[in-house]
Amino acid sequence: MNVKGKVVLSMLVVSTVVVVFWEYVNSPEGSFLWIYHMKIPEFGDSSGQRSWWPPSWFNNGTHSSQEEDTERGKGKWRNEDRIEELQLWDWFNPKNRPEVLTVTPWKAPIVWEGTFDRVLLEKHYANQKITVGLTVFAVGKYMDHYLEDFLESANRYFMVGHRVIFYVMVDDASRMPVIPMGPLHSLQVFEVKPEKRWQDISMMRMKTIGEHILSHIRHEVDFLFCMDVDQVFQDNFGVETLGQLVAQLQAWWYKADHDKFTYERRELSAAYIPFGQGDFYYHAAIFGGTPIRILNLTQECFEGILQDKNNDIEAKWHDESHLNKYFLSNKPTKILSPEYCWDYQIGLPSEIKNVKVAWQTKEYNLVRSNV
Ligand SMILES: *[C@@H]1O[C@H](CO)[C@@H](O)[C@H](O)[C@H]1NC(C)=O
Ligand SMILES: *[C@@H]1O[C@H](CO)[C@@H](O)[C@H](O)[C@H]1NC(C)=O
Repeated sequence: MNVKGKVVLSMLVVSTVVVVFWEYVNSPEGSFLWIYHMKIPEFGDSSGQRSWWPPSWFNNGTHSSQEEDTERGKGKWRNEDRIEELQLWDWFNPKNRPEVLTVTPWKAPIVWEGTFDRVLLEKHYANQKITVGLTVFAVGKYMDHYLEDFLESANRYFMVGHRVIFYVMVDDASRMPVIPMGPLHSLQVFEVKPEKRWQDISMMRMKTIGEHILSHIRHEVDFLFCMDVDQVFQDNFGVETLGQLVAQLQAWWYKADHDKFTYERRELSAAYIPFGQGDFYYHAAIFGGTPIRILNLTQECFEGILQDKNNDIEAKWHDESHLNKYFLSNKPTKILSPEYCWDYQIGLPSEIKNVKVAWQTKEYNLVRSNV
């Protein structure tokens, strides 16, 4: 190619980059796909683990990238003093489901199909123009096996009619499937460093989510859900699930005796829950709340995970054990019935009236490199 050709070519490349960037900057809620490259420090590096954390993690909740972040608001949390909650008894009617537990001992609602007034809730949240975020991690073969089904179904059933931002964390963005998004939906793809063991992937999730909340999510959404990728939406997962701190009942354990729960029972672990304690067995596949509450949750859980690493112990169910410990002292303000995360392998008991999310077949031998 001659010199002139090279000049023309490079001008083309530069103008394409400019146009792409402009498109992105001007489409805050469009479906434009943008791939972020985040440096995520290595897990298991024993030298000064605390130093992986931005210095402000434990201080005042500010983040160094905030200064650069002029576009997305200046330091304020998007939902700060903005979202009004309805009175519980205006939208919640537990009498419609007398056969199941619908209110916790600390008076939080357990949302079952039939207990909520969807029309009223929809109107309330539409007036407030909410944006809801959803984080999902799809690393290694989890991406090939589950991500497309997850995102396609979420696009159809998650918070229909409201603005949604999907935060997708992958190890290789070049293999990201192309998924057309609805008009109110946008997708942000981030690259995370792959961990060797799936247990570490699942535990590092807590740290990564916290970092993203601090650096941008808190300016972008009013509510945030964090979900596993190996499940699929089957019906509306709507605004009835929104709350300050939302936990999911684990489908296999919602009827079990408390002392059978698979909590961490070794005192050495930070996730330790003694026999005789604990309210429910919560599922780490779905949790949510306001970004500020989820930030606290992820920080506390990750602290526990680090403490266990230092003591050379790993909690029985990894991040789920730490999540259960967290919810023991920080009671969820809302709990989702197992209809929100059902495993059909259990069958379909009569109280499961409407499955909103179903577990995918767990092909552990295919997707986990170290089973
Ligand atoms: C927050 O913490 C950072 C880092 O520790 C510090 O530079 C900043 O001045 C603090 N801001 C406030 C408002 O305390
Ligand atoms: C989480 O919130 C609790 C209660 O507000 C607080 O005591 C704790 O310090 C917070 N944890 C972190 C890591 O900020």
